[in-house]
Amino acid sequence: MSLTIDRDRLSSEIDTLASFSDAEAPAVTRIVFTPTDLKARAWMKARCEEAGLTLRQDAVGNMFARWIGSDPAAPVVGTGSHIDAIPNAGKYDGVVGVLGGLEAIRALRQAGFRPRHSIELLIFTSEEPTRFGIGCIGSRLLSGTLSADAARKLADKDGDALDEVRRRAGFGGELEQVKLPIGYYKAFIELHIEQGPRLERQQIPLGIVTKIAAPASLRISIEGSGGHAGGVLMPDRHDALCAAAELILAIENAARNSGAIDTVATVGICDVFPGAVNSIPSRVRLSVDIRDTDLQRRDLVMRTLEAACNTVSTGRGVSIHTELLNADAPADCAPAIIEALSQSCRHHELTFLPMVSRAYHDSLFMARIVPVAMLFIPCLNGYSHRPDEYAHPDDIARGTLVLAETLAALSA
Ligand code: GLV
Ligand code: MN
Ligand code: MN
Repeated sequence: MSLTIDRDRLSSEIDTLASFSDAEAPAVTRIVFTPTDLKARAWMKARCEEAGLTLRQDAVGNMFARWIGSDPAAPVVGTGSHIDAIPNAGKYDGVVGVLGGLEAIRALRQAGFRPRHSIELLIFTSEEPTRFGIGCIGSRLLSGTLSADAARKLADKDGDALDEVRRRAGFGGELEQVKLPIGYYKAFIELHIEQGPRLERQQIPLGIVTKIAAPASLRISIEGSGGHAGGVLMPDRHDALCAAAELILAIENAARNSGAIDTVATVGICDVFPGAVNSIPSRVRLSVDIRDTDLQRRDLVMRTLEAACNTVSTGRGVSIHTELLNADAPADCAPAIIEALSQSCRHHELTFLPMVSRAYHDSLFMARIVPVAMLFIPCLNGYSHRPDEYAHPDDIARGTLVLAETLAALSA
């Protein structure tokens, strides 16, 4: 079978999808269930229908576009990723796996391939944690990692409940129905940009993911006491932002001193109240993101953070409250799918690097219910989650080709 990937169509579709954005180009902001996200979804739906796929959307808005195989009852071979984008993001994160997945299916159809197992493109809801605090809401529900009850408790910063927001966005039905039945999928493959520099630095065109690192995230609220920036003398202060500063550095140190390069920790949000130049900060909210390939090491950083909270709280006379949002285990990719991807690489004489994904992906949760693997392509300077994120059209097309062949091999 000779497959032709339409590189230019794929590039132009990536550009079009980037135009659904709440940020000025080249930045992309597309937060789940905003009018912009809904327009992007409608555009994606039209592309999938145009490709002859059968569409279904579940109660949380996960979209499934199926190419029905000759044995419709056989477990499905899935591919896909997400199209939501964090504030001030680029246009490739997630999108490459969605539009690349669609292009892979179109290429297989055009080549006359007929799958036995249905092939399904999956567009997950809210891989990014921007709106509801935790990421991968769609895949957590599909895999049963997040219960419908717990999902109903999620709300955005305006207090709007996920359950309400998704209904207003047009996704009805019960969240209980999102969980997939056992054996629904035979295999799942996600194509994605690397979001790190290794492939580019080593000039290797493809990465095959063997393991996805374990993410955890927390919210920390610090309550000190405010007052006049001139009137309150230094010995009398309980400045919540100074307490936050100590904590932020403690978190950084805990990750730096873990003894392994695989430990990373980030404080990405620091909300200061009241936020006036001449007012002592009385309240600060921090978001903390901690990841590691090793669960014990990641959890040690979390315990170090807890100890730092106690020390800072006592030392500065502020109260500190931590709320754990998620602490997930890592996932191993399935040797059989890794082998199928490797075979396709070898067939095209493409070198590849077995690698760990430090970013999380919906595949982390899909791995709880189906054998998964991920295929990485290089991205410029390893940049991601920033507007100058870039992947070369040739690299995207190469990844799409290997994806298409692997989907064929697994669905035959
Ligand atoms: C996904 O976007 C992540 O933060 O790893
Ligand atoms: Mn992302
Ligand atoms: Mn992503």
